[in-house]
Amino acid sequence: MSIHSEIKKVTTTSLLKMKAKGEKISMLTAYDFTTARMVDAGGVDTILVGDSAANVMAGYATTLPITLDQMIYHAQSVVRGVQRALVIVDLPFGTYQSNPEKALESAIRIMKETEANAIKLEGGAEVADSIKKIVDAGIPVMGHLGLTPQSVNQLGGYGLRAKEDAEAQKLLQDAQLLQEIGCFGLVLEKIPAALAKQVTESLRIPTIGIGAGVDCDGQVLVYHDMVGMNDGFAPKFLRKYLHLYAEITGAIAQYVKDVKEKNFPNEAESY
Ligand code: KIV
Repeated sequence: MSIHSEIKKVTTTSLLKMKAKGEKISMLTAYDFTTARMVDAGGVDTILVGDSAANVMAGYATTLPITLDQMIYHAQSVVRGVQRALVIVDLPFGTYQSNPEKALESAIRIMKETEANAIKLEGGAEVADSIKKIVDAGIPVMGHLGLTPQSVNQLGGYGLRAKEDAEAQKLLQDAQLLQEIGCFGLVLEKIPAALAKQVTESLRIPTIGIGAGVDCDGQVLVYHDMVGMNDGFAPKFLRKYLHLYAEITGAIAQYVKDVKEKNFPNEAESY
């Protein structure tokens, strides 16, 4: 615990204990200070500075273009807004796939420059050497299996993964491997709920699902999606807790009207 605060920070060990106790883990994304403050104040256990920032913050069609410098900027902003939640940062595409040394350098930059608590990267056996190298340097690593958006060009889209037995078997093996080499948890994205349950029951480390059913040890959603800012994005797995796109555009339209009609500012809002 920090000497500056009474708030008990969530750690990777807390997540392992939560799984052991059967307590579900909540995760949301955040990419900026103001959102991170709200997400943390809402009591989420862990915040992911996802490379989905490429989509929701920068408007790219895929997560591939975001750079390590850009992820570091987002993560620094988030860390400044968080007191309790564990902050995990995605290693972006191209910063860990080529060799373990490069992967470690990328992970070290994130940990040193942002003071986040852990990193996440996508893939199974193919990236095992990189994961080992990072874990051996004392950096907590979360894995990510199933739909791995950085491979969208190879996968051919964002559809459900591991429907067929061969892919499901590889996923089960990859999950075991990631646990063996020291990952503290795994994101399971867009796979059948029955498979996610099987993976979750086979592991000591927690699974965090997105489109992977209720039996994962925790759930993650993209913040902008769950508060309904992303108009038109409505996959089956998404529950919208608010409809902020309509609320915000409505408020802006009202402001424009007030300005045009000299209803803003009024006397009380003037000096
Ligand atoms: O980048 C991201 O937001 C993610 C989550 C969808 C798990 O990886």
